[in-house]
Amino acid sequence: MAMKEIAIITGASSGLGSDFATFIDKTEHLDEIWLVARREDRLLELSKKLKTKAVILALDLTQIGSIGKIQEKLKNENPNLRFLINNAGYGLVGRFDELDKEKQLRMIDLNTRALTELTLVSLPFIQKDGKIIQVASSAGYAPLGNFAVYAATKSYVLHFSLAISGELKQKGIYVLAVCPGPVKTEFFEIAGGKPPKLAANSQDVVRLALKDSKKRKTVSVYGFAIKAFVVLTCFLPKRLIVWLSYKVKA
Ligand SMILES: NC(=O)c1ccc[n+]([C@@H]2O[C@H](COP(=O)([O-])OP(=O)(O)OC[C@H]3O[C@@H](n4cnc5c(N)ncnc54)[C@H](OP(=O)(O)O)[C@@H]3O)[C@@H](O)[C@H]2O)c1
Repeated sequence: MAMKEIAIITGASSGLGSDFATFIDKTEHLDEIWLVARREDRLLELSKKLKTKAVILALDLTQIGSIGKIQEKLKNENPNLRFLINNAGYGLVGRFDELDKEKQLRMIDLNTRALTELTLVSLPFIQKDGKIIQVASSAGYAPLGNFAVYAATKSYVLHFSLAISGELKQKGIYVLAVCPGPVKTEFFEIAGGKPPKLAANSQDVVRLALKDSKKRKTVSVYGFAIKAFVVLTCFLPKRLIVWLSYKVKA
């Protein structure tokens, strides 16, 4: 019997993750899409809109053992994992010394540890031409005041993804780091602050990310302003970027 072909998308209950599921459903011929997030009702709602069979995995990825459950399922079913989309994540706007300690530590856990663990346990199931899409952020390009822990976690995601893309391309597996600027999703409800008026549409960011992944690019940056920001971070002294970031009120 042929191996079933699947995608795993974390953080599929809203925003970018939900749009990744919708686009992949439309453009790829897969047997299943595994949808991961905590809000089961949202995943169910999404699954009804997909023509591909959805498998709902209502998991809190910050809980020890949650990724072990995904690994068990992978081992039992031995699918060909064509797309791994590590998208679950959140940010917190505010001063490091004023934000809640537990929320900040959970953010590090979700944005970096869970992403790393899921990437590692998924690798045995990803074959030649498989794609890994890691949702980082343009915030990963610089140290940012009032976003210190979040920006540092996304810097990890960006640099981790770039590093492993070097070794995995030898196996024909392509890793893309997606680095959007502000996007209109529920992100800011959790992070605090307001999305800037010029925040991007989630569908546009996802469309470009999937296109860039197909082209085997290693980084996907949506929009001229964010591309310019990325270029500037290469030239401006880090101290100046930090100073400027404290001047921008979220
Ligand atoms: N929106 C932006 O401006 C922006 C910009 C750059 C990068 N990003 C990144 O894009 C990714 C997606 O964010 P978004 O903008 O689409 O925000 P969102 O709508 O808030 O989506 C976040 C997703 O992560 C899931 N999630 C949160 N905590 C989780 C946990 N403990 N376990 C499992 N899943 C969890 C949420 O599902 P449940 O609550 O149901 O668990 C939700 O599906 C994040 O990594 C974010 O950092 C966002």
